[in-house]
Amino acid sequence: MSHRIHIADLLRCPTPGASTTVHGWVRSVRVSSEVAFIVLNDGSNLEGIQVVLERTRLPDFDNLCRITTGSALRVTGTLLPSPGARQQYELQIEELQVVGTADSHYPLQKKRHSLEYLRSIAHLRPRTNTFGAVFRLRSQLAQAIHRFFAEQGFLYVNTPIITASDCEGAGELFRVTALPPNGAPRNEGGEIDFYQDFFGRKTGLTVSGQLEGELFAQAFGDIYTFGPTFRAENSNTPRHAAEFWMIEPEMAFADLADDADLAAAFIRYLCRFALEQCSEDMAFFDRHIEQGLLQRIRSVAEADFARIEYDEAIRHLQQATVSFQFPVQWGLDLQTEHERYLTETVVGGPVFVLNYPKEIKAFYMRQNDDGRTVAAMDLLVPKVGEIIGGSQREERLERLLTRMQEMGVPREPLWWYLDSRRWGSTPHAGFGLGFERLVMYLSGMENIRDVLPFPRTPRHAEF
Ligand code: 4AD
Ligand code: MG
Repeated sequence: MSHRIHIADLLRCPTPGASTTVHGWVRSVRVSSEVAFIVLNDGSNLEGIQVVLERTRLPDFDNLCRITTGSALRVTGTLLPSPGARQQYELQIEELQVVGTADSHYPLQKKRHSLEYLRSIAHLRPRTNTFGAVFRLRSQLAQAIHRFFAEQGFLYVNTPIITASDCEGAGELFRVTALPPNGAPRNEGGEIDFYQDFFGRKTGLTVSGQLEGELFAQAFGDIYTFGPTFRAENSNTPRHAAEFWMIEPEMAFADLADDADLAAAFIRYLCRFALEQCSEDMAFFDRHIEQGLLQRIRSVAEADFARIEYDEAIRHLQQATVSFQFPVQWGLDLQTEHERYLTETVVGGPVFVLNYPKEIKAFYMRQNDDGRTVAAMDLLVPKVGEIIGGSQREERLERLLTRMQEMGVPREPLWWYLDSRRWGSTPHAGFGLGFERLVMYLSGMENIRDVLPFPRTPRHAEF
């Protein structure tokens, strides 16, 4: 098939009077006795293009008027300024070919559908305005993330998806095995003998590329990963998915303050990018998804992000006049309701919470001199809560070994990780940004299921 012109490109540099061919799917059809209007959308922009069929120009006008919503068309016509108020240009049709028909059972007729209903037809929802905008934004942001790190000289590394180590230590690894589900070999103790499995050990899907990312940072200085991440976390919330994408930068010769600086610069860059490069879709979100979105993103693009200590965060929460569902006490982790209170009510914008109690954080975080906290940071943003989790890493071998012992993290399987602290160890830091949380934050969409093309959540793996 010949190279297709995307409608967005056609409208970006219009040449009125030129003959053009476009391809797309019918969003709506309006017919009167002498003229018919079809809105055709090819996914490249929000508006699509209005194509105009006139009886006097088309011998089979009556037949063409029977075209239905959802059909795939190839149309050739002349691009002309539109007399209508809703669009600048329209296509005056000379030739129209129905490539694929759609009957009246097509579920996306013109009326508005709920997001819940659209989740049940995830195979068709990309053809709606909302999901067109969400997935264009998502795609653009992925490019922007690579651009940001390329501009800063970071090396892009692909860390393994199948792994034998549970980086976060939360026991949320999905098992990967080639053993038969029935009759897996057992060892003398009666447990499954993973020594006979494909990899000769117990393996799972990665919960984070950080540990391998750290090794690359100890060779390339500044690196990042951007890949799929899996967590068998049985939490049915609007913010958790079992399969999500994470961006994890890691910097050698860097501390927690450098880490927060990078995170703030990164988020500001992505806000500016969305406003500038995705303006049509962002304006749509502002109109239909969250009023005031543009203003919110603009202010974040310029903002200095606040930084508060975990201690201070706890004091704010204890003094809150609202009541929380979960308890607030030094030593307990922050729940989404706490995070949102801090960012929305206390600060009124993005805020880093720094230096958490060591008991609630992973083994690899750098131990502070106070003996009770580690150099961890979470970035909290309005509406979403935690969008970034990161830390300075424990670069001192002895301290790391002690902490692993205290936490019951076995040394032997992590011998390679420990080696990085033996030869040329450096202070280093990094973080993980949940890609879906970012898309939610920038689009105003409130459910993670609506920013993933085909979401994986407890009891849902359809499509
Ligand atoms: O805070 P987390 O668990 O941190 C890590 O995995 C570190 N190894 C990152 C690092 O320092 N390199 O996860 C990081 C981020 C969270 O802040 C959140 O945005 C996102 O990943 N995230 C999830 N997003 C969707 N669904 C889930 N189940 C998520 N769990 C974490
Ligand atoms: Mg976290």
